[in-house]
Amino acid sequence: MSAAEHRRPLRLGVLASGRGSNLQAIIDAVEAGALRAEIALVLSNKSDAVALERARRHKVEAVFLDPRPFKERPDAREAYDRAILEVLRGRDVELVVLAGYMKIVTSVLIGAYENRMMNIHPSLLPSFPGLDVQKKALEWGVKLAGCTVHFVTEGVDEGPIIIQAAVPVRDDDTTETLSARILAEEHKIYPRAIRLYAEGRLRVEGRRVRVLGEEPAPGAVLSNP
Ligand code: GRF
Repeated sequence: MSAAEHRRPLRLGVLASGRGSNLQAIIDAVEAGALRAEIALVLSNKSDAVALERARRHKVEAVFLDPRPFKERPDAREAYDRAILEVLRGRDVELVVLAGYMKIVTSVLIGAYENRMMNIHPSLLPSFPGLDVQKKALEWGVKLAGCTVHFVTEGVDEGPIIIQAAVPVRDDDTTETLSARILAEEHKIYPRAIRLYAEGRLRVEGRRVRVLGEEPAPGAVLSNP
């Protein structure tokens, strides 16, 4: 038995603002026994986030933390993140998972969870950081699009990359069809990235993340057309 198997399941804190399909993929992986982790809580800045409903449905604690009372303060974003940090620490969260969390996290959270906070982004970073990136990829005319799981650092969508998955862009793609193709891969790579972390197999070396004991599939080259 490895050291990672001896310890208790990794405690995850998921931050989400929307429909929560990536959260669902993580819940499913945990429930299927494919990911040895426990979702300690799901926290949202939106009271009506579907992600909160998904959490409740699976008996996971769902926390809505209203950002509005913080708005008047000059350090509104930091103050909000301090409140989040208190919640996360109160639940003994070890890894923070951003899953469609639509607020920019500040140094308050990033510093407390350095190399212990992940995000998923629907492009092959560093191409297309920011918002509406499937549309931008289509407009740019790229032939391969995809998604990226990375550690969170202060630069938005800039942190060390853990896993990427590429998908072909088809001539008849719309933003919707391309987004759906990318999302299907997101649901595979996010639980995998968390599992690699839980198994203690990720080493951050500068910008690069070394993945221990994982060989790239031989001949896994994707070209399009
Ligand atoms: C995903 O496309 C993810 O890559 C991005 O936000 C979207 C969240 O979708 N960060 P969901 O809420 O997980 O369904």
